[in-house]
Amino acid sequence: MSWLPSLKTATPEEGFDLAIKLSRMAVKKTQPDDEVRDRLRPDYANDADSLTMASQVVATNFQTVARANKYWTD
Ligand code: HEM
Repeated sequence: MSWLPSLKTATPEEGFDLAIKLSRMAVKKTQPDDEVRDRLRPDYANDADSLTMASQVVATNFQTVARANKYWTD
């Protein structure tokens, strides 16, 4: 099964979770080595600027998800 069958979500909150998933998958596909990601995790998890950048990536993906869902206005 596809890891991304649809951009449609029932609620904005689910849409935000999908935006996080998209962001994390980008990191996973960029660095497929689990061990390397595990090793780097404490670096970004304890760095305010890294966390702010991660939030920025999620925000960008959320724009796409929100648009795909017509901002949940239907
Ligand atoms: C955990 C998001 C970048 C490695 C997490 C968690 C979130 C997250 C939400 C907590 C998951 C949970 O406990 O349920 C993001 C976002 C990123 C990002 C939005 C950037 C756009 C990275 C990078 C690395 C990384 C750059 C390492 C190269 C990990 C690892 C964990 C983790 C190893 C803990 C294991 C896991 O829960 O799967 N990340 N992350 N992440 N992240 Fe990231």
